[in-house]
Amino acid sequence: MDQTTDLDNAVSLEWIRAIPKAELHIHLLGAIRPRTALELARRHRVEFPVDSLEFWTPFFCTGNLAQFVERFILLFPLLREKEDFERVGREVFEDLHADGIRSVEPRITLTSHLLRGVSEEAIGEGLAAAACYAHETLGMKVRWIVDFPRILGLQVGRLALEAAIRGIAWGVAGFDIAGYEGPGEDDPAYCAIFARAREAGLHLTAHAGETGPPEHIRIAINEWGVERIGHGIQASRDSDLAEELASRKIPLEICPTSNIALGAVPDIYSHPLETFRQQGLRITINSDDPSLFGTTLSREYLIAAAAFGWDRETVLKIIEEGWLAAFPPHDLYKQSEC
Ligand code: ADE
Ligand code: ZN
Repeated sequence: MDQTTDLDNAVSLEWIRAIPKAELHIHLLGAIRPRTALELARRHRVEFPVDSLEFWTPFFCTGNLAQFVERFILLFPLLREKEDFERVGREVFEDLHADGIRSVEPRITLTSHLLRGVSEEAIGEGLAAAACYAHETLGMKVRWIVDFPRILGLQVGRLALEAAIRGIAWGVAGFDIAGYEGPGEDDPAYCAIFARAREAGLHLTAHAGETGPPEHIRIAINEWGVERIGHGIQASRDSDLAEELASRKIPLEICPTSNIALGAVPDIYSHPLETFRQQGLRITINSDDPSLFGTTLSREYLIAAAAFGWDRETVLKIIEEGWLAAFPPHDLYKQSEC
């Protein structure tokens, strides 16, 4: 390859940013502007352990998922009013738009706000207003995914499901289980929750095999019937499972920096995503909690491209995979009502 061709084919941050991308795995609060978080903490008189921007990402890059989740939940009390949800949503969409994202499925842990006494109307109206702004002013598609933390158990899972179904009216399209993967995953009651979500027309994904065993991925695809897997990187420990994911074309929502920041892999070179890609699994690249880990979606593509020597064609194929794996809006939702 001569030098001109080499340069023509270079994968740079600017080049990735300019391509319209779909973000499938991002937590709304994991994308909050740090300055906004600190301001909301002051306004609502919430004691937050970080009071200076320089300590923001070090506080969240714990090298350990369980400890990270303990810190992540400190973000929930920062949003109390409709205006908080709208502001955080708008700012996140502006930041994602600047990074070239044109379709996003932000995860929101409704129950963690509801159980603190925030009204469902405040959340729904605030987030719907932010999504309308993204749609009308920024030209972005927004489909909300409601998640629930497995650590809070089945009762909270059922509450989340009912709130998600009511949320279809303001743009909820998907349902997810998140948090630390502890024991008890095989409780059949989870199947009933996911079955009811599917019957209600919600699309299903699950954080599984992030740090938990391959068996969690099996349960998610075979018993819960999820369409995509959040992370799924522990499938690298089970070749039969990796083959099954490939043959059933189940997309994996891969979040490289998150996996490194939370100690799931030691570095990008040890990340299984390139092996998965070569084995024919459907790989999508995502940012998970970009503000907390100091990253962006374009940077995630760049890091993987640099580590694995991807050319532009390879990057474009993975970006295309993100678009193909994106959830459509719920049949009953009309964005035209913005
Ligand atoms: N909530 C926010 N980020 C998460 C992650 N990486 N895994 C599980 N739950 C989360
Ligand atoms: Zn996540």
